[in-house]
Amino acid sequence: MTGFDTGVHVVYLAAAVCFVLGLHRMTSPATARRGNQLSAAGMAAAVVTTVVLLAHDRVITVTGVIVLAVGLAVGATAGLLTARRVKMTAMPQLVSIFNAVGGGAAALIAFSDAIGHVGSVALADQPVSTTLTTALDLLIGGITFSGSLVAGAKLAGTIPGRPLTFPGARVLNLLLAVIALAAALVYTTGHGGVPLLAVLTVAALGLGVLATLPIGGADMPVVISLLNAFTGTAVAMAGFVIDSTPLIIAGALVGAAGGILTKLMADAMNRSLLNIVAGGFGTGDEPAGASPAAGSGTVREVTVDDAALQLAYSHKVVIVPGYGLAAAQGQHELVELAQALTDHGVDVSYGIHPVAGRMPGHMNVLLAEANAPYTQLKDLEEINPQFASTDVVLVVGANDVTNPAARRPGNAVSGMPILDVDKATSVIVIKRSLGHGYAGVDNELYPDPKTAMLFGDAKAELGALLAGLHSYV
Ligand code: TAP
Repeated sequence: MTGFDTGVHVVYLAAAVCFVLGLHRMTSPATARRGNQLSAAGMAAAVVTTVVLLAHDRVITVTGVIVLAVGLAVGATAGLLTARRVKMTAMPQLVSIFNAVGGGAAALIAFSDAIGHVGSVALADQPVSTTLTTALDLLIGGITFSGSLVAGAKLAGTIPGRPLTFPGARVLNLLLAVIALAAALVYTTGHGGVPLLAVLTVAALGLGVLATLPIGGADMPVVISLLNAFTGTAVAMAGFVIDSTPLIIAGALVGAAGGILTKLMADAMNRSLLNIVAGGFGTGDEPAGASPAAGSGTVREVTVDDAALQLAYSHKVVIVPGYGLAAAQGQHELVELAQALTDHGVDVSYGIHPVAGRMPGHMNVLLAEANAPYTQLKDLEEINPQFASTDVVLVVGANDVTNPAARRPGNAVSGMPILDVDKATSVIVIKRSLGHGYAGVDNELYPDPKTAMLFGDAKAELGALLAGLHSYV
């Protein structure tokens, strides 16, 4: 091994260390930003070193250099601009698009490598380690690409978020899965060539669409995490195909982290992964159970002044944020209100549901942006036993994660662990109407006599509450 080769390996090793340490720092909101920067620095070093390696080995033509430079410039500019300009509420669909891009790029690497071998190395002479990883890369990358685009469109509302099915969808799904797996198997044994890979890719793309369309209701978080894990796995396979250590390590880390997140999400939703992917579970297509309260009971309204008075005279308040808080961008007003209550001697905490919002950790990111003290953020297991001793729960733009309908079978949130806000002495809900949340189910909390609705935009109502509070304390 020359000194140059050793240098390249050392940089790749350092990049891998940056990925691992960066990931580790993402376990806490306090260190997550630094962790992200560290991982990005590791990736930048790996990319620059790979470019130097290509130039050193003279394995790239001038056209190749131009294509790489243009691709890098276009990709980096597009990534930078979208990431800087994206609204916090559109972040989940952006993450889905990034997943799609990752899976698609990994699949293209396998396809281009296979085409590059045509005429130079006979397929039958290629080692199984290459044909297998090429087939897996296209299979997983293809599913991830189209599945993530569909998930992104569902999150953006471009296509309906509810489960979309049609007669024969499951049979077609099964057929596509059989075609894709058979094509992957045949290619792995050294037969079929590029045309078979094209069949495999089309089947995988179709599978991604048909597997994601029927998933809706409250199950999307699990699917997004799963597609994230798929992206990492496809990238790791691409690393094996072109023999790139940084790609293998980065892909394996994303795949493993995504896998763990998928398990956590499935557990948080009390769902079996197999049932979600097979479709039909938790999507509202079970026989409907009787809804004891939804839509029938009367709903009580509260004025801003009364709500402020109630908060000011409480000993213990739990704030439950949800997607509506992110949509209204009211996090700064919320944290200001919580701080004013704390200063007044009220015991304040935030109850964070694992799937509140539209992406894993959405509420933590939102509240961290407004500098909410981390010590006040409590997860579901920690906060649920405390509701019984809570005077007022202030629900801000959260809906599904508080819906007692989850405790009975027959609806799209059945079985999902919820924040037991109805165990508190009283509940104030800030939202604009009695409209549904993401899962499309009536919230049985609203007609509860303990509950009072403060109708309006979260940011505006929180501002008004803060002003009201200042006039009492
Ligand atoms: P949701 O159940 O989606 O409810 C959000 C509520 O916010 C809506 O009912 C809406 O009611 C209200 N809202 C919207 N804009 C508002 C505004 N400007 N001011 C005040 N309120 C506003 O939210 P959640 O409780 O956070 O639950 C999350 C749901 O999304 C779950 O079903 C979860 O499974 C799903 N999901 C989560 C993820 C992840 S990973 N977190 C990903 C995909 C899907 P109004 O229209 O009446 O105001």
